[in-house]
Amino acid sequence: METIIRKALRKPTAANTIFLLKGNSDLKELGLNTDETQWVKRMHRSKKSGVIEINRYKNHLFIAYCDGQGSRTEKSENMRKLGSETQTFLVKNKIERAVLQVVGGSKEDAFNLAEGLLLANYKFSKYKTETDKNDNSFEELDIYCNDITEDDIDELRLIVEAVYIARDMVNEPVQYLTAPQFSKEFVALGKEAGFKVEVFNKKKIESLKMGGLLAVNRGSIDPPTFTIMEWKPKNAVNKKPYVFVGKGVVYDTGGLSLKPSNSMDTMKCDMGGGAAVAGAIYAIAKAELPVYVIALVPATDNRPDGNAYTPGDVITMFDGTTVEVLNTDAEGRMILADALSYAKKYDPKLVIDAATLTGAAARAIGANAMVGMQVKSETEFLELQKAGARVHERIVEFPMWDEYNEQIKSEIADLKNIGGVDAGAITAGKFLEHFTDYPYIHLDIAGPAFLSKKDKYRTVGGTGIGVRLLYNFIKSKA
Ligand code: BES
Ligand code: MG
Ligand code: ZN
Repeated sequence: METIIRKALRKPTAANTIFLLKGNSDLKELGLNTDETQWVKRMHRSKKSGVIEINRYKNHLFIAYCDGQGSRTEKSENMRKLGSETQTFLVKNKIERAVLQVVGGSKEDAFNLAEGLLLANYKFSKYKTETDKNDNSFEELDIYCNDITEDDIDELRLIVEAVYIARDMVNEPVQYLTAPQFSKEFVALGKEAGFKVEVFNKKKIESLKMGGLLAVNRGSIDPPTFTIMEWKPKNAVNKKPYVFVGKGVVYDTGGLSLKPSNSMDTMKCDMGGGAAVAGAIYAIAKAELPVYVIALVPATDNRPDGNAYTPGDVITMFDGTTVEVLNTDAEGRMILADALSYAKKYDPKLVIDAATLTGAAARAIGANAMVGMQVKSETEFLELQKAGARVHERIVEFPMWDEYNEQIKSEIADLKNIGGVDAGAITAGKFLEHFTDYPYIHLDIAGPAFLSKKDKYRTVGGTGIGVRLLYNFIKSKA
């Protein structure tokens, strides 16, 4: 379900209208009567922020003020939040079409409000029956604002679409979204956006000796895949690529180190990193950003079975490192390690991975941010954090101190795949670092990848976190 977004060429009349105002002096443009004007002023004063609704029975007016306090990024987020509140009103009133009329405020304010509204309007309805499907859906937003160009609207549409794509993939159960199916989705995205996609099948993965990915896959009846997506425009500003790596565990039961049932319930989200990098490269390619970007997604489910990899096993990874498996539930690092070693062959400018890697990251900061760690990329990390602040996909830095390496030393192999009870998010990052030799940023998105209930414009289920972050970061390079 996509929401239609268009530029309105004429000033709307008699339509359901969302007015964006800078202050009360803009009210005279709205054609309200005296009572309505007084009421809006009173509501605005009492609520300070929030959307004010006027029900004219034939149509509805919604009034949003962009006069909030705070930093630029806080204001942006506040506008998205107002957009999300507006969406709630629209749905409540069964409104299918509305116009956003920008009376006061900047084009950025309008963009952010529309973005919040549209992101809030996402619904995963594939498995709903027809009657349910058509219930309560807002379908079309026209934007009336002289400063907003068709290009701006195209970009907004694209960003929202890319987030929807990532959310859809996360929300798909493994019953549909197996590793081979996940790769098929990438191929389709590549066709649509014009980036190259290559999928390695099990045979190829075996011939490459990707031991980590193959080990995790041993308990599965579906083969693993390793997908390479490449956007290499002729006018790229960089010779060395930015490489994204996304964790593609299409379902994580924990394997033989089986998860308790309530921790397993949401584990279809464990390919959220893969979905994020695919959504990002889709948006980057479709926007034709002049930046050379590659995305790698190792994919499999993680299950217990007769042949499943087993605590105590020693696995030889793609780069030759040996890993003692002490918990089969620490599978993300096993498959990511192979992808990170594989990334060396591109001589990358920077590698960024996105992974629902540890419960420890989620416990440390919850759903409000992701955990980030960096090696040899201080400046890039700051830039990524800035992009994160702009789009409100925030990153909290955790250390890559070498002291933590003690925790992942094995008695019998080069490494072990768990680091004990303390600092779980960090020891996972340190494990991954072992397989890199380039500037590297690790993003653990376990907290914000999947929500059990809606939060502003982040709808229930998959959030698509990472898409807007990576798109915005790459755009800043263009
Ligand atoms: N996919 C999980 C991490 C996760 C937890 C993601 C909660 C999203 C929400 C990961 O594979 C995992 O199971 N990690 C273990 C690691 C441990 C065994 C060292 C964990 O966090 O418990
Ligand atoms: Mg696990
Ligand atoms: Zn996992």
